[in-house]
Amino acid sequence: MIRLEHVTKVYGETVAVNDLSIEIEKGEVCILIGPSGCGKTTTLRVTNRLLEPTSGHIFIDGRDICQIRPERLRRSIGYAIQSVGLFPHLTVAANIATVPELLHWGKDDIARRVEELLILVGLNPVEYAWKYPSQLSGGEAQRIGVARALAADPPILLMDEPFGAVDPLTRERLQAQFIRIQQELKKTVIMVTHDLDEAIRLADRIAIMELGRLVQYDTPETILSRPANKFVHDFVGTDRALKRLSRIGIGNFIRPCPSVKTSDSIKEVAAAIGSRRSVWVVNDEGRPIGWIDQSRLSESVTARETIFSGDIHEIALTNQATLREALSRMLGQGFKSIPVVDDKARLIGEITLHDVEAATADGEA
Ligand SMILES: Nc1ncnc2c1ncn2[C@@H]1O[C@H](COP(=O)(O)OP(=O)(O)O)[C@@H](O)[C@H]1O
Ligand SMILES: [Mg+2]
Repeated sequence: MIRLEHVTKVYGETVAVNDLSIEIEKGEVCILIGPSGCGKTTTLRVTNRLLEPTSGHIFIDGRDICQIRPERLRRSIGYAIQSVGLFPHLTVAANIATVPELLHWGKDDIARRVEELLILVGLNPVEYAWKYPSQLSGGEAQRIGVARALAADPPILLMDEPFGAVDPLTRERLQAQFIRIQQELKKTVIMVTHDLDEAIRLADRIAIMELGRLVQYDTPETILSRPANKFVHDFVGTDRALKRLSRIGIGNFIRPCPSVKTSDSIKEVAAAIGSRRSVWVVNDEGRPIGWIDQSRLSESVTARETIFSGDIHEIALTNQATLREALSRMLGQGFKSIPVVDDKARLIGEITLHDVEAATADGEA
């Protein structure tokens, strides 16, 4: 859907983008990544004609964009940038409405769209529509920036470090939200980041750039398992195997596991534990509430007196989680297995360290 052909952009002595050819499929997320100054922002800006390339061509749906008027082109391309660029003297609602206003949408349509977008990015319209940018946190401002880019429902979204200026926790939430929104809207996205974990998490394909050139363009899995050259190898770092785990859902690794109830006798608990080190304890709804270690078995007469309830809710994973999250829980808690729950928080099985290790080893092969 978007195709760059031999695009070069020169500033005086600097070749900001050097003979870049790349194709982004409809509905895919392409993430440009590479060291500062490698030409990521310039690539985005030639794609919506904020800049004209020195040479080369860019096609959208087969049409050379130099034949499309820039204003018209930009209506089909949402643009969100790190510094957000919200108009400080306009309310959140007015900021989001910028492009629909330019397109002379009706008042009611605009109001409806603003409300819909605020809900989409997880902000309560009643609370946020009338705020001014100075009253927003960094993360909220970024979400408004994304809402504004989506306002006229463009099929294409260009995002330049959209989650760059926020703390790691907020960043993670924004990423999760982006994944959810993208699953729903299926835009064609080119996003710039300098954060490899972010690229691995969000991208269908990653384009690694160095000094204006495209070095490798592949799925995250391939970038991690088969780096094209030493530059990519060094760029993705020594923990490639771990990074790969963040692309693998735990779904295929969930094993059935025994569980007991607090009313069970020690004999029943012992039978459930068998040769295991511990067993999960569930309540009447089947939700995990703790665990029992084998070493405690002799001390008590019922499960109730033996249970560790710890932070079971912090430990359990949902079946949406990745192997990387499973591993970090295991390392964080010192557990060799982690319970997995369904969307009603009921125990459905567990993930074991052994299986995570096996998955890691596969990637190294
Ligand atoms: N307007 C400009 N004038 C001169 N040089 C520029 C201009 N914009 C970018 N550059 C140079 O082009 C190169 C690529 O810049 P940019 O695309 O912003 O990189 P990135 O976004 O990957 O950090 C850099 O060396 C930068 O200094
Ligand atoms: Mg940049």
